[in-house]
Amino acid sequence: MSQIKENSLKYNLYSWSAQGALNPDVITRAEGVFFWNEDGRKIYDISSQLVNLNLGHGHKKIIQAIKDQAEKIPFIGPGFAIDVRSEAARKIIEVAPDNMGKVFFANAGAEANENAIKMARMYSGKYKIFSSYRSYHGASYGAANLTGEPRRFPSEPGIPGFVKFIGPYPYRPPKGVCFATEEDASAYYLDLLEEQINFEGPQYIAAIFLESVVGSNGVLIPPQGYMAGVRALCDKYGILMVCDEVMSGWGRTGTWFAVDNFGVKPDIITFAKGSTCGYIPLGGVIISKEIAAYFDKNVMFCGLTYSGHPIGCAAACATIDAYRDENIFANVQKVGKVLGEILEGLKQKHACVGDVRYIGLFSVIELVKDKATKEPLVPYNQDPEKIMGKIVGQLYRGGFYTYSHENTIQVSPPLIITEAELRDAMGIMDQVLDDVDKMIQP
Ligand SMILES: Cc1ncc(COP(=O)(O)O)c(C=O)c1O
Repeated sequence: MSQIKENSLKYNLYSWSAQGALNPDVITRAEGVFFWNEDGRKIYDISSQLVNLNLGHGHKKIIQAIKDQAEKIPFIGPGFAIDVRSEAARKIIEVAPDNMGKVFFANAGAEANENAIKMARMYSGKYKIFSSYRSYHGASYGAANLTGEPRRFPSEPGIPGFVKFIGPYPYRPPKGVCFATEEDASAYYLDLLEEQINFEGPQYIAAIFLESVVGSNGVLIPPQGYMAGVRALCDKYGILMVCDEVMSGWGRTGTWFAVDNFGVKPDIITFAKGSTCGYIPLGGVIISKEIAAYFDKNVMFCGLTYSGHPIGCAAACATIDAYRDENIFANVQKVGKVLGEILEGLKQKHACVGDVRYIGLFSVIELVKDKATKEPLVPYNQDPEKIMGKIVGQLYRGGFYTYSHENTIQVSPPLIITEAELRDAMGIMDQVLDDVDKMIQP
């Protein structure tokens, strides 16, 4: 075992894992859509690490901006005005929906959501917070309580007033329910949500949080009309609509924010990951002009030593410029179309592929034991034989890095990937799915 791995296993604690049986690969180089391990093996990064390296590894201009800022002013407290902090916020407001007014900077996605919860409560004077099952909003206490999947459980009993609703998952409708169209699905899930709003008392509900496109929990794309329907419910009952764009934002779906695809303007947007291409931690809360005006007169009880960290803000400025200057979203549209075709082909070909869902370069393959019954390859929150881990491991040995969640495999490459690279990488996926087909044969 190399010294690096030995030290790492001895001293580092790894996320979401029992520590005893880990075998992390040692990475020594990374560029574009690839990284290399210490044996010199070249690996496609098909999840953009944690769906944050939107512009891939080693983007020269972002790195230069970080270096320049480190030379100039690496840190100055959040109470001062400096060029990169104001410029980053200005650029963000420029690309956000036109009802947005100001930005509060945090360090990551969870922190952004923590602060959004507080802001929604302060602004509305109400305390209940709605979020959906099958969502992920971060691992800190408040964000974990927003989260609607098992990573929430160690943070429970939860914070009072947090309520979960059932969001759309048209591939798996409740028993006895069948959707003829996307609009039908939206109407069904919106009715459920409205009923729950009334059961909980709209006068107590501060905000509805939702991922504009659910990410880790299976790239669940809201059916036609759903987001507009949530907006309408929020307006009807005086509830704030908060879109978590931590994973879905910054071009992932081919637009600045995923919510732009649905023609809807939320009251608050949270972001992180792709805002700096993941090279330096940054997150934030974008609030509407109306909420910003409220905080002109009322104290905003939010603060962080590193709010608006100059190096993070410099990286954000360079990253936003790169999305625009390098015409990145056009590539997302073009290569995303190819990705959709490849995924549909895999679904046709492989018995184990129950569903594929894709928007831009944000996609997932959902694995089943049986296409007709849709029985998931592994039951919800259970994989005692580590089947999904084995599939991801086999992909990795083939030169294809990504991660799985429940019975889904994430396919969300850097937004700079070329068609040729994508086709080559997905060839590795095709071969591995052949083996999964054999595994599920009766
Ligand atoms: C939608 C969403 N929100 C919030 C988070 C939490 O972000 P972070 O890990 O930067 O705290 C994530 C992380 O994957 C996410 O996907």
